[in-house]
Amino acid sequence: MPDLYPAPAKLNLFLHITGRRADGYHLLQSVFQLIDFADQLQFALRDDGQIHRITDVPGVAPEDDLIMRAARLLQAAASTRGISVPGVDIEIDKQLPMGGGLGGGSSDAATTLIALNQLWQTGLSKADLMQLGLRLGADVPFFLFGGNAFVEGIGEQLTPLITPQTWFVIVHPGVAVPTPLIFGAADLTRDTKAVKMSDFSAGPLGFGRNDLQAVAARAFPAVADALKWLSDFGAARMTGSGACVFVAVASESQAEKICQSVPAGSGWRAWKARSMAAHPLAGRLEVV
Ligand code: C5P
Repeated sequence: MPDLYPAPAKLNLFLHITGRRADGYHLLQSVFQLIDFADQLQFALRDDGQIHRITDVPGVAPEDDLIMRAARLLQAAASTRGISVPGVDIEIDKQLPMGGGLGGGSSDAATTLIALNQLWQTGLSKADLMQLGLRLGADVPFFLFGGNAFVEGIGEQLTPLITPQTWFVIVHPGVAVPTPLIFGAADLTRDTKAVKMSDFSAGPLGFGRNDLQAVAARAFPAVADALKWLSDFGAARMTGSGACVFVAVASESQAEKICQSVPAGSGWRAWKARSMAAHPLAGRLEVV
């Protein structure tokens, strides 16, 4: 059986919007935290140069899937270096909700780049992969970085950061939030004052806020409801552009208890997850 390649989720411990570029992309400052809640991918090499996703993913046509686009981009990058790749069949066990703010699509793309760079022996460095990744999405470079990070720019400026080990409860309030809708909102706060890492030397948990949260909670009342419910257990916050909200808790048993008390009939889903100090595939990134 081919190896399983995990694509872990992230949480944005805080997310500040500090400006907007001429091309419409937003400048942000955020702490990205890896958690042990993941999709799993498998790669089986072909011998005809073709790239296929062999799992049906409801709502995502293969041609639009970032996994396919990542594989094609690496194939093209290899081709410019005179390497012709054998092709691949990609299988995915999709666990992370889409439009959830957990970075699932970006992480799937990053894992595809890491796995195929090895399996196809294309020999791109971590920096090369991160540059390719940025063309797929602003969150992709983070998942190629290898660890937790203070993230700036549109998502491409990464500084390693040691974050506290903790358990989280993540609640998905049953709605998918389209990222461009939240970033494009007229009433989004876009002028949060830039912070320095020393400003959160007491730890990034509970620091600052998520500037996208107020807009998402107004547009999707279920997000506001889930935040209100989760606030009983700690400082609840939204991740990314939503829809998921999360809270840090002291123990696994506390996390389990909260997950089990999600209101019946709410249509919400809840998961417990633990912070990870490093990406599970970080060791495969060091090959130049
Ligand atoms: O890069 P990605 O495809 O993940 O971004 C989705 C959308 O989110 C972009 O089209 C843009 O509208 C918005 N976005 C942004 N600034 C960022 C990241 C995303 O405006 N730093």
